[in-house]
Amino acid sequence: MSFRIQPAAPARPNRCQLFGPGSRPAIFEKMAGSAADVINLDLEDSVAPDDKAEARKNIIQAIGDVDWGNKTLAVRINGLDTPYWYRDVVDLLEQASDRLDQIMIPKVGNGSDLYAVDALVTAIETAKGRSKPISFEVIIESAAGIAHVEEIAAATPRLQAMSLGAADFAASMGMQTTGIGGTQENYYMIREGEKYWSDPWHWAQTAIVAACRTHGVLPVDGPFGDFSDDEGYRAQARRSATLGMVGKWAIHPKQVAIANDVFTPSEEAVAEAREILAAMEKAKAEGAGATVYKGRLVDIASIKQAEVIVSQAELLAG
Ligand code: COA
Ligand code: MG
Repeated sequence: MSFRIQPAAPARPNRCQLFGPGSRPAIFEKMAGSAADVINLDLEDSVAPDDKAEARKNIIQAIGDVDWGNKTLAVRINGLDTPYWYRDVVDLLEQASDRLDQIMIPKVGNGSDLYAVDALVTAIETAKGRSKPISFEVIIESAAGIAHVEEIAAATPRLQAMSLGAADFAASMGMQTTGIGGTQENYYMIREGEKYWSDPWHWAQTAIVAACRTHGVLPVDGPFGDFSDDEGYRAQARRSATLGMVGKWAIHPKQVAIANDVFTPSEEAVAEAREILAAMEKAKAEGAGATVYKGRLVDIASIKQAEVIVSQAELLAG
């Protein structure tokens, strides 16, 4: 084990990030009234090029006017490969109220992308005397992004969260897929004539979780496009939670409740984790490093596993 202690990720709920196009201000109040922990107002791919300027105005106004409660409020800017991104940053940082918490940078390819945005944000914050520093979140959704994922996770102390963007990622990787996330029909194995579907997103998710956990960043699962498929969304979210991700995007309001359910540890899971901690306390008092709980081994590592569940439950309970 390295002598360096693994840094904690930001202690804030991030079970669901609800997205909405900046060009559709009629839904902003509905987004604010939702049960999502994070709101992402979008300037990028859900907004047509001709609507970018109007969407910026809508968002800047709504940041100040709408009551966003205690949600984390984020705006997704355009990618650094577009002519829009600098104006997104300049207008948001110069004009939006201090209620803005975070900007999301899509399609990051390396740590220097974040350095560039950080430099611009830092200059405007200083020039404008903004008292609250803006935090960053990024989307890993390209071959370069996943290849440089650890460099990106370490790039700036502003970084709080990192999501996997399945559709752009698949396109950049040259994957033969359609649909945004979830089961892919052609990704299967055969045993005794039966098909078994595997998870083509698993490796990228695990790489993101490892980079995030190494550098104290929240790992988040991105969009699931088929919002008619609740069970498909739930299955994807459960796999992500099992791998260490803390939440998932919603691209339709009906996905919010499912994400909140999956990423909130269940009462049974919390009760069992507390029992394991109690069993280990008792073992320690008796001078033992391991004991038996419900017929299985628990030891010092089990304490850390149980603490993940208990501390997540305590964070969400406020
Ligand atoms: N946030 C909050 N409320 C939303 C919403 C959202 N993202 N999308 C739709 N609603 C509201 C609708 O206004 C409607 O409200 P009502 O019952 O008061 O009329 C209700 O939820 C049901 O909406 P529905 O008719 O099922 O959807 P739609 O056809 O209006 O919109 C989408 C569907 C997918 C176009 C829309 O949800 C959307 O734009 N999602 C986000 C897309 C996005 O931001 N993508 C970028 C990230 S990948
Ligand atoms: Mg994308």
